[in-house]
Amino acid sequence: MTAPAAPPPGAPGAPVVLAADGLVKDFRAPGGPGRRRGVLHAVRGVSLELAAGEIVALVGESGSGKSTLARLLSGLERPTGGQILLRGRPVQVARGRDYRAYKRSVQMIFQDPFSSLNPAHTVRYHLSRPVSIHQAPGSRAAMDAALAGLLQQVHLTPAADFLAKYPHELSGGQRQRVAIARALAARPQVLLADEPVSMLDVSLRLGVLNLLAELCAAQRLGILYITHDIASARYFAGTILVMQAGSVVEAGPAEQVTQSPAHPYTRQLIASAPDPDRALAGSDGGTSDGGTTAGGISNGGTSVWGNRPSPPPALGATR
Ligand SMILES: Nc1ncnc2c1ncn2[C@@H]1O[C@H](COP(=O)(O)OP(=O)(O)OP(=O)(O)O)[C@@H](O)[C@H]1O
Ligand SMILES: [Mg+2]
Repeated sequence: MTAPAAPPPGAPGAPVVLAADGLVKDFRAPGGPGRRRGVLHAVRGVSLELAAGEIVALVGESGSGKSTLARLLSGLERPTGGQILLRGRPVQVARGRDYRAYKRSVQMIFQDPFSSLNPAHTVRYHLSRPVSIHQAPGSRAAMDAALAGLLQQVHLTPAADFLAKYPHELSGGQRQRVAIARALAARPQVLLADEPVSMLDVSLRLGVLNLLAELCAAQRLGILYITHDIASARYFAGTILVMQAGSVVEAGPAEQVTQSPAHPYTRQLIASAPDPDRALAGSDGGTSDGGTTAGGISNGGTSVWGNRPSPPPALGATR
């Protein structure tokens, strides 16, 4: 597979498909010895916009509220406050035709493709159900064509080689591709990808991220890419939002946020990002003053993710 061109930063002029306006989520914090029950403010008034054909990265440390925000946006959790808009229309009720359309339009990709697929069922089973629900194929032949089309979109070909397989017969990357195909069966407008590659072998990560970038560009999907890894965010996303303790503390074009970070927390994230340049220099016994600094992520040519807009070759593209 050749690496797709990364989508343009911010996809200027593209319509906003999904927006959050002041989203809030509070949880009841459990009490404990010497601790009273209280309120945990997981998401504190977050607003964002996701346009068609745009990848927005949401970066932050563990517990900063990234998954909670994704669960709110996907309708898996109800917000304590604020609202979600799909193509400008507020999504308010957890039922009705509008809400069903919203649930179909906004699909989640989870971190662990092994637990999101049922080990007792084949790839055909996993994909047939959403195809039946969302595409209503009128015949066995139409179903087979739809399944083959989905597998083709995620580069699992020939389809016949994969349809009868069980999750344990696939690599981690292939399992995540099946999960992505299942999400695509709903013909969504938005993918919320919550750390979609962090559980994959390092050699498979780039292939899956390149696939998401390709789908974003080809199908004009809006993609929210959640990650701890600000270096991958810089490579794959046009826009980066930095989240800390439930709030977005910095947002802007990926280049700007990573090369001229304004917030101390963003600088901290960049400084703690693994730096392949420095690691390579270190393994030679040498020192490097290049690479990641508090002022920005390395511009060196040996980065795992490379520099936009020249994506590095896909590694292990279909594994
Ligand atoms: N259902 C829940 N009930 C109570 N507290 C919750 C619930 N879900 C999340 N939290 C809390 O909300 C905060 C944010 O959690 P969240 O999972 O959104 O963080 P995250 O940024 O996704 O972290 P990670 O990077 O580890 O996945 C955490 O303190 C977490 O313990
Ligand atoms: Mg999370």
